[in-house]
Amino acid sequence: MVSVALKGIYKSFKRKKKIVDVLKGVDLDIPDGKFTVILAPSGEGKTTLIRIIAGLEKQDKGDVYIGNKVVNDTPPKDRNLAMVFQNYAIYPFMDVFNNIAFPLKIMHMKKEDIEKKVKETAKMLQIDELLDRRPSQLSGGQRQRVAIARALVKGANLLLLDEPLSNLDAQLRTVARAELKELQRRLHITVVYVTHDQVEAMVLADQVAVLHNGKIEALDNPMVLYRKPKDTWVAGFIGNPPMNLIDGELIDEKTFSFEGYKIKIPTDISKKLKINKGKATLGIRPEDIKVGEGNVKAIVNLIEPLGSQTLLRVTIGKTTINVIIFQTHTIELNKEMSLDLASDNLAIFDKNGQNAEK
Ligand SMILES: Nc1ncnc2c1ncn2[C@@H]1O[C@H](COP(=O)(O)OP(=O)(O)O)[C@@H](O)[C@H]1O
Ligand SMILES: [Mg+2]
Repeated sequence: MVSVALKGIYKSFKRKKKIVDVLKGVDLDIPDGKFTVILAPSGEGKTTLIRIIAGLEKQDKGDVYIGNKVVNDTPPKDRNLAMVFQNYAIYPFMDVFNNIAFPLKIMHMKKEDIEKKVKETAKMLQIDELLDRRPSQLSGGQRQRVAIARALVKGANLLLLDEPLSNLDAQLRTVARAELKELQRRLHITVVYVTHDQVEAMVLADQVAVLHNGKIEALDNPMVLYRKPKDTWVAGFIGNPPMNLIDGELIDEKTFSFEGYKIKIPTDISKKLKINKGKATLGIRPEDIKVGEGNVKAIVNLIEPLGSQTLLRVTIGKTTINVIIFQTHTIELNKEMSLDLASDNLAIFDKNGQNAEK
């Protein structure tokens, strides 16, 4: 087992004579035996970062530690890690056994050793019954496990995954996601997983590192990130739909005002606020808004049934927000309704968009 640490990682690329700074001082501790997800919209440098950990790309500045050793000059094959890429290809013309054996054959390992290693690894991933099958005879989740087995067969204890589920359809993705989490728990390997999908991050991670503007913007366990986002950027990125961000003013530490309404801030939050006056933003998740009670009047613009829940888009004066409800019978389009925004889960951000709670 092994931990990873990134210290002050910088990376720029030259494109058409222009320099693009992708990573601008990434610091990150990846603990041993845990599932760490690096989350960012696409184009933010996730693949670049994970390739730097793997040694496939060289950082311009900064240090990569694997265990307590600096590996800046260690070639990928000596870093004792395994990587599964965005579009992992398992060879369709080979059975599962030969797919997993492939990296060992390249190393010219002895035949009986290969057999032993492949069987061990397949057993670990619970695909030992499938060794003579072709990839076309496997489920998406099983195929993913073959790709992971092939990556791990050389005995790595650090697994790097670059959006490995992005080529599966939605239903398979849910299954493969659950399997991956179970696998990591069972094997206690250190996993670094990069994705733009925040639901994946929430489900899989022990800790989520949000990469933004070339730096780690936030690092926390998924529920803290969801409930207490450290700034409005993180709040607006995590959650689907994301947290509503309502601009207004703090009149005192107990009262937020916007569009002529006063919202009472719950005591638990108000006593922790670092500010008590001035421009502020109230953050509230769509599912934390109570409908049919409260002092705020809103007009319903859109009703979107999502199955178990319904998404409403409503306007309060010039402010538009999302509301999620679980019952629809009282809701009518273009009609007025009452909302209660004084949720125990609300967040207050200061004029710079930073969470105002201590
Ligand atoms: N080899 C390269 N040469 C030039 N630009 C690159 C190279 N690799 C990545 N980039 C650029 O760096 C940025 C980050 O890319 P990438 O790490 O692939 O992001 P992500 O995986 O988050 O989508 C993008 O703007 C991309 O075009
Ligand atoms: Mg990528």
